[in-house]
Amino acid sequence: MEMPESVKIVEVGPRDGLQNESGELPVAVKVELVERLAAAGLPVVEAGSFVSPKWVPQMAGSGEVFRRLTKRPGTSYPALVPNLKGLEAAISAGVDEIAVFVSASEGFSRQNLACSRVESLARLRDVFDLAGARGMKVRGYVSCIAGCPFDGDVPPVEVEAMANDLAAMGCYEISLGDTIGVGTARQVRGIIRQVTADLPRERIAMHFHDTYGQGLANVLASLEEGIAVFDSSVAGLGGCPYAPGATGNIATEDVLYLLQGLGISTGVDLSMVAETGDWISSLLGRRTESRAGRALQAGRQAGG
Ligand code: HMG
Ligand code: MG
Repeated sequence: MEMPESVKIVEVGPRDGLQNESGELPVAVKVELVERLAAAGLPVVEAGSFVSPKWVPQMAGSGEVFRRLTKRPGTSYPALVPNLKGLEAAISAGVDEIAVFVSASEGFSRQNLACSRVESLARLRDVFDLAGARGMKVRGYVSCIAGCPFDGDVPPVEVEAMANDLAAMGCYEISLGDTIGVGTARQVRGIIRQVTADLPRERIAMHFHDTYGQGLANVLASLEEGIAVFDSSVAGLGGCPYAPGATGNIATEDVLYLLQGLGISTGVDLSMVAETGDWISSLLGRRTESRAGRALQAGRQAGG
């Protein structure tokens, strides 16, 4: 399979990253983060979520973030919503694109959404109805594609079934998430082949976390399977509250460096993302998790 000539990066740091960071950030900083990432050329910046603040207190200010955001023409700013209540709150904050999420495993569904997989799909019907009536685009996530912190192994046919259901309900793109970062390249290829037996490659995105250091190898394997959309997080922000030791998403800077080397275009300015990664990491009181980000930072400090 030919590798794609260009790749779309979906920046999820302000949502998937910050939802798992213990450091509290003021709304103004979150707004600046989203705006800087968009200014760096990222075509999609997931800017927050409208979930229960009891479950994810870090995302409680998302309405304010969306209200204060200056949107760039041509950039998408989706918000994650779990149910109708979340969608209604998102609409009133000016959100015009959403992402919904289900799990390939039963255990994670119950932990993350407080319901079974079947119930989670049924609950989304209202969400799709309202979003459809308002002409909103809906992206879908399937979590735990390569393993579940509660159920262990997850067969690719389970991923395929959930991806097909989300596509049938109207998701324009399905992001397959290795939520706890356990998958390896051969496994990832098998999952992609299983899912693309039914769905066109163009509708599939891959979403890797880097817990076992397999993130970039999995991106390369996915590129070789013809996948051209990847989710990543500036500075590798994040983690998973239900998977002790799980790290954040693969770092946007690292993915950009890989793609540059492969001659694959993204339209994103790596140095601007890296500077944003340093800035947000220092505000969180830690070092960037991006290896490319650290290398570029060292180069700047050396006057290079
Ligand atoms: P529940 O407890 O069953 O909800 O949780 P409920 O309907 O019984 O309501 C309980 C309370 O929550 C009520 O408030 C509701 O009003 C409120 P109370 O009467 O007790 O004061 N509530 C809400 N508040 C604000 N916004 C809402 C909302 N809905 C209900 N939308 C629920 C069910 C879905 C709400 C909960 O499980 C939840 O919020 N889950 C979201 C968890 C989450 O955000 N996880 C992280 C995102 S998924 C992810 O990161 C994976 C991904 O990155 C891909 C990957 O890595 O694989 C996408
Ligand atoms: Mg994630």
